[in-house]
Amino acid sequence: MRVTVKRKAHFNAAHRLYRKDWSDAKNEAIFGLCSNPHYHGHNYDFWVEVTGEIDPETGYVIDMKVLKDNVNAQVCNYMDHKNLNEQVEEFSDLNPTAEHIAFVIWTRLHKVLDKDFDLRITLFETERNCVVYSGE
Ligand code: NI
Repeated sequence: MRVTVKRKAHFNAAHRLYRKDWSDAKNEAIFGLCSNPHYHGHNYDFWVEVTGEIDPETGYVIDMKVLKDNVNAQVCNYMDHKNLNEQVEEFSDLNPTAEHIAFVIWTRLHKVLDKDFDLRITLFETERNCVVYSGE
């Protein structure tokens, strides 16, 4: 029997969406306010969903404390109050859109969790806009 467990987490971070090979005018036309050269912040909320078989001994899919500790270490502590473009290695050459942030979160957690789990990340950049990545 496969069950999905979910944990919600949060970090605050600054970013700027832009391409170095585009002019400021083109960056502003495509990325709007998110291309502000002086950066701006978001309150990012995300759900981590882990789907797997229930362990017959514990009755857990995954110990929630293990999930919490990994989410904090790999994502929250790693990204909170950072300038994503300047301070988070994965974005040194990757535009920090919500899509790419969800991909980076998925990749960092996939690296440390049991590979038998299906992992899905839902990242909210605003209360109304979110993206979903599940490793495809
Ligand atoms: Ni933005």
